[in-house]
Amino acid sequence: MQEITLHNPLDMHLHLREGEMLKNIIDFTTSQFCGAVVMPNLTTPITTTKLALQYKQEILQNSKDKNFMPFIALYITDTLDEEELVLARNNGLKILKLYPKGATTNSQNGLDEILTPRTLKIFEIAQKLGFILSIHGESNGFCLDREYEFGKIFAKIAQTFPKLKIIIEHMSDYRSIDLLETYENIYATLTLHHITMTLDDILGAGLRPHHFCKPILKTPKDRDMLLNLALQAHPKVSFGSDSAPHLEKNKLKDNAPGGIFSAPMILCALADLFEKHGKLENLQAFVSDNAKQIYNITNLKSKEIKLQRKHAWIPTQIKLIQNNLIPLNNGTMVEWSPI
Ligand code: DOR
Ligand code: ZN
Repeated sequence: MQEITLHNPLDMHLHLREGEMLKNIIDFTTSQFCGAVVMPNLTTPITTTKLALQYKQEILQNSKDKNFMPFIALYITDTLDEEELVLARNNGLKILKLYPKGATTNSQNGLDEILTPRTLKIFEIAQKLGFILSIHGESNGFCLDREYEFGKIFAKIAQTFPKLKIIIEHMSDYRSIDLLETYENIYATLTLHHITMTLDDILGAGLRPHHFCKPILKTPKDRDMLLNLALQAHPKVSFGSDSAPHLEKNKLKDNAPGGIFSAPMILCALADLFEKHGKLENLQAFVSDNAKQIYNITNLKSKEIKLQRKHAWIPTQIKLIQNNLIPLNNGTMVEWSPI
């Protein structure tokens, strides 16, 4: 039977949540990945080094794989200062996460205005200390243009701080690809959902709230151009699932939160996708090698994930005590399965 081995797969954008939810979902990631960039938008957001280190402990305590590497992103708020940044860097944190206020789940502590003297100072210090700046780049304009409108801000930060690595998180708009090509210090993460789905998957037939995410899924052209970046494993992009669990009952409410829970079987789904396009040989770079380069990751314990070309099913639901989680592509078949 055909097999592939992936060395040190990394998920460069992940929501693991906290408490019971963390306990319920962490195995989906640690069984497939050797490490992940973990997002700080918890109910108590990760705004200090102390909170980040506690959160890292909580993740490791609940991880079966004790070598799993959580890279905790530190949430940029109005109170972040140089002293805290130095402390963070000295404690091994290296990723800052910028949320525009109100852009997404638990972003109420994010920045109201991005290019103020205060935040420019933070970016300057971040550059000096060698942080990576990960940005949820959306304006508060029309939903399909939000990422595009934010492009001016990416360009401005990239020009002003040419040594600061900036990540366009979950790139969703083909017009952002220009930024990657123009600025040496701009990179991107890509999700499985933005490279395989469009707005039609949310509202082209019946309304599918489980496909509602931020940034919103866009047009076939956006999907296809971003898929192409992934399939060629463009050296400036890495895989970041943005797997973001919300209870089914909350996803079905009015004013439901954005978020797609894509973690279950996601490496198998990626193998399927790359194989279907005749690019299986590029999967290793997309799910690991590019990220290692971009984020300068050198200290991973070696982990090999073997997949076999034998079909498997993505669970229809994950039953939790309180309620269910509905995984992306639930109940569908993938051609690859873990060994
Ligand atoms: O769809 C999303 N869900 N996008 C985000 O930016 C946040 C995430 C979440 O935390 O639920
Ligand atoms: Zn996210």
